[in-house]
Parts: sequence; structure tokens; C-alpha cells
Amino acid sequence: MSKNNTRPSMLTGYRDHTLADVKETYREQATTMANMDWLNQAFTGRYRRALFGDATGRVLDVGCGVGTSAQYLGRDTEYVGIDISDAVLTEAEQRLDDSPQETTLYEMDAQDLDFPNDSFDTVISSLSTCTFPNRVEALSEMGRVCAPDGRILLLEHGRSSVGPIARFQDWRADAHFEKHSCRWNQDPLAVVAESPLTTIESSSAFFGMITAIEARPA
Ligand SMILES: C[S@@+](CC[C@H](N)C(=O)[O-])C[C@H]1O[C@@H](n2cnc3c(N)ncnc32)[C@H](O)[C@@H]1O
Repeated sequence: MSKNNTRPSMLTGYRDHTLADVKETYREQATTMANMDWLNQAFTGRYRRALFGDATGRVLDVGCGVGTSAQYLGRDTEYVGIDISDAVLTEAEQRLDDSPQETTLYEMDAQDLDFPNDSFDTVISSLSTCTFPNRVEALSEMGRVCAPDGRILLLEHGRSSVGPIARFQDWRADAHFEKHSCRWNQDPLAVVAESPLTTIESSSAFFGMITAIEARPA
């Protein structure tokens, strides 16, 4: 894998990474993501169902990956997925071909969404904030495109609340980031608190590694 930038970030402790880095990471991982999606769902399906099950209207999935979350939405929703990786979107396209919802996918940067203000009733994102080069910018964009009375639903992973697991995550954080462009010991609530979004409700599960967040636009 070629990574362009090796300068450590003073803000995060991780070295900076660029959109090109992320694209390269997920170009390499697209097929694995599709093949291993059953495992992803086995671990996270119940959390997706609980958080996204009552999403309404026109729904934007930011960093949609292979479209894993689409099936947890109601049939009467319209699903719009965006991802920076064309390779991942090709897998998503095949998987969502017979989806019951109206579905559209776009190659797009979460940090610079090409949608007008207030164009979605619900914005969802799962296990993706950790990979966005500028997480606060991406959250701010989610708020901008969400209707003022809409909801932003984030399923995040981060640093465990269990000491030994958290220490293992800290120890492997750089290696994990290098391979997956993913900050696996992030604090999702702290990242949202830095953004213009307002957290309405949150809960954690799986040794504190999974955080479900309901937020509202500013
Ligand atoms: C760990 S995967 C999660 C995929 C999916 N949401 C899920 O729940 O399994 C992270 C996804 O975010 C995408 N991504 C990373 N940075 C992005 C950006 N700046 N804009 C859009 N998508 C991005 C990656 O290409 C990848 O598909």
C-alpha cells in the first residue's frame, strides 16, 4: 500500500492521512468487505437494527461501504449512499441491486457533500467516522444536509471502557491505522462534541467499543 503522508498529527496522535490514502486502503479492502459482510452483520446487525430501524424518509448513509446498513432501514425509506471508494461502491451496487428501497449511490467525499442544505430527513453513518481524514468537517456536513427537524444517527466504534482491551487498542492503534486508515481507539462522543452537532442520546455496548449516537443538526 502506498501512503503519501507520514507526518504525525499533533491533534489526534495519528499521522495525517489524505483522501488518496483512504481510497487506496478501501480499494484494497473492497472485496474482503463484501465477502466478510456476514461477519460484520453478525457483530453489528443488532446495533444497526436498534439505531436505524425507525429512520424515516430520505436517508443518507455517509461512508456507506458495501451498503450494509441499507437492509436495516424500513422499506418505505429512500436510501442514498455515498462513499469515497469506487471499488467499494461497485460491491455495494451489486449487493443493493434487488433492494426493496429506492436506492442511489454516489462517489463523494463525506467532508464535502455535494447536496443542498436540508436535503435529507435522516443522515446515518456506521463505523466510518474513524476513517474520515477530518471527522469534524464530515459531521458538520452531515448537519448541513440534514433537515432542521431531522436526525443524525451514528453507529461508531472506539476505545473500550475495559482497561486491558483499551490498552491493547492503544498499543496497536498506529498499526491498525496504517492498515485500515481507522482510528480504532477514538472517543466518538468527544468527536461529536467538537462538531456543530448536538448529541440527544447515546448508549454504548460491546465492552464500550460500540457507541450509538442520536444527534441533531446545529
Ligand atoms: C470501515 S468502512 C465502514 C463501511 C460501512 N458504513 C459499514 O458500516 O460497514 C469505512 C467506509 O468509509 C469510507 N470513507 C472513508 N473516508 C471517506 C470520505 N472522506 N468520504 C466518504 N467515504 C469515506 C471508506 O471508503 C469505507 O467504505
